[in-house]
Amino acid sequence: MGRNKRRWWITGVENMRFVDIIEKKRQKEALTTEEIQWWIQKYTAGEIPDYQVSALLMAIVLNGMTVRETADLTMAMMHSGDMIDLKEIRGLKVDKHSTGGVGDKTTLVLGPMLAACGIKIAKMSGRGLGYTGGTLDKLESIEGFNCYLDEKAFIRQVNDIGIAVIGQTEQLVPADKKLYALRDVTGTVASIPLIASSVMSKKLAAGADMIELDVKYGEGAFMQTPADALELAQMMISLGEACGKKVRAMITDMNEPLGRAVGNALEVKEAIETLYGRGPEDLTELCLRGGSVILVEAGLAVDEAEGRRRMQQVLEDGSAIRKLKAMVAAQGGNASWIDDTESFPKAACVTPFIAEKDGYIEQVRALEIGRLAMEIGAGRERKEDAIQPETGIVLGKKTGDRVAKGDVLAWVHHNRPLDVLWKERLYGAFVWSDRETAQKQLIYKMI
Ligand code: URA
Repeated sequence: MGRNKRRWWITGVENMRFVDIIEKKRQKEALTTEEIQWWIQKYTAGEIPDYQVSALLMAIVLNGMTVRETADLTMAMMHSGDMIDLKEIRGLKVDKHSTGGVGDKTTLVLGPMLAACGIKIAKMSGRGLGYTGGTLDKLESIEGFNCYLDEKAFIRQVNDIGIAVIGQTEQLVPADKKLYALRDVTGTVASIPLIASSVMSKKLAAGADMIELDVKYGEGAFMQTPADALELAQMMISLGEACGKKVRAMITDMNEPLGRAVGNALEVKEAIETLYGRGPEDLTELCLRGGSVILVEAGLAVDEAEGRRRMQQVLEDGSAIRKLKAMVAAQGGNASWIDDTESFPKAACVTPFIAEKDGYIEQVRALEIGRLAMEIGAGRERKEDAIQPETGIVLGKKTGDRVAKGDVLAWVHHNRPLDVLWKERLYGAFVWSDRETAQKQLIYKMI
């Protein structure tokens, strides 16, 4: 661009024009390292307009990026802001990331379980957009819980009790903040290089030694098929390993919600039940498998079977739930709510949805359940929307269940009246079969 007369630390970019970069990608050519660095640096500084970056993003969605370009994009984004230094935390620091899904409260269960096994969980989480809230929104449904610790307090808490979950600072990968917001409104989220660089730039900047990724596929996820999820996971593993991190991934199904609860306070209550050993089978299994892999990598178990036994033990002996309580108390939350979940806020109405026929459930459609939950207050459509933590949907039946007429398919926790169309859509989210159906296979692969 003509006005770009400044000299950049990146060499060979003095006469670069952003429109040439857009055209190059449109022609399916690979961008150079310098072009990618220049793009990210200038966009973060507010010197390239959104409309031009939108055009480039769409060209990337359509024409892809090579592994080298994706690595360059990840590094450029990672260096766009602060890098968190966790070296004052003793022991193996583990971070986990889920590509997101309906009813996903894994961090609230797996984090305390791993901390109870001696792993250090120093986790920065985000808020949710769409469906239900993110981990921060869920934790904030506990009275007094504070997600904003400064770096010193964060490190001290992880050293003292083994776990802290806080909000990402504004300075962590600011390039991703801008780009993700733009992708969200320009139909450019679903792209393997863009998702991989967005996730890994944040994970690498957040400083953990090991990262576990839960890459979801299905109608409630960005990736529609296991093959796409596998490709995304492999790309993210390569990016992490190139930076000297241990990275493991699980490829998991998101065609139906994880667990039974969808909605912030409802999900925290389900996470608490799971830590008491009374949680839904799928969520419990995901945490046992995911945790056992980490224990092996950390050298705390010789194989996954031993890792699983240790993970089971911390559920049974109460040490995992005590970790959650310790974390809640350390972050200013009312820890008595963990013992007495009746203290959580309650919606004005709880309406059961009753089965009108006998049969079997073939699928509970994750995407529709997520949308319906959002519409009654459990998620936010726009960043500035407020969440009603007490609202949401609790499933009475899941895939593979036999249903008799009169059984409860779901309980809806709501504050406003439900309209007829909403009710019809909830019934429509249950896909029926006359014949016995298999339970879904939650974990497709561990890599
Ligand atoms: N989660 C992220 O952090 N980034 C993406 O692009 C998609 C999911």
